[in-house]
Amino acid sequence: MERVLIYYSLDGHTHFLAEQAQKLLGCDVYRLQLAKDYPSKGFAKYYTAGRNTVLRFPHTFKQPLPDLSRYEVVILATPIWAGRVCAPMYSYLKQAEFAHKDLYLIANCSGGDVSKCFSIIKNMKHDGHVRGEISFINPNEATFGSDSARLKAFCDAVLLNKSFQ
Ligand SMILES: Cc1cc2nc3c(=O)[nH]c(=O)nc-3n(C[C@H](O)[C@H](O)[C@H](O)COP(=O)(O)O)c2cc1C
Repeated sequence: MERVLIYYSLDGHTHFLAEQAQKLLGCDVYRLQLAKDYPSKGFAKYYTAGRNTVLRFPHTFKQPLPDLSRYEVVILATPIWAGRVCAPMYSYLKQAEFAHKDLYLIANCSGGDVSKCFSIIKNMKHDGHVRGEISFINPNEATFGSDSARLKAFCDAVLLNKSFQ
């Protein structure tokens, strides 16, 4: 079974988690990169990224989007912005087609609610079948001691194509 993990990361937490998940899954990984990324700090970062998420701003990407034809399983990893799926991942989801694919969702936040993000993705992507979801709070080297067992359980479910809550 072929798997790919597709993610966006602005501050590096989702990037870190994607690297850890790749080690456990041995899957292909694709990082979504914007043609023009957000500022890395300051008021403009939060204002622009938050506003664009709420307004569902349509982003363009630096590279062509991945060809999913050879994958049966797609793992999507996204930061939470303004309580929802971040604008770059939303833009990707608008363009991607997941017909007949199993989907697993990872959301990273700073402690807020992630349920709206998962609902938005599930409501958008009727063509794919969501088998599992998990969230982390700002995952990084320092938190990984406590996060690793949960990530391992999630990745084991992905490898066995089992559901995960
Ligand atoms: C514009 C913006 C809005 C955010 N909104 C939320 C939020 O509503 N709830 C929350 O828990 N975290 C929020 N965060 C924090 C990120 O979801 C969290 O730090 C995440 O781990 C970042 O992932 P990344 O480092 O891969 O970009 C926000 C961050 C940004 C930049």
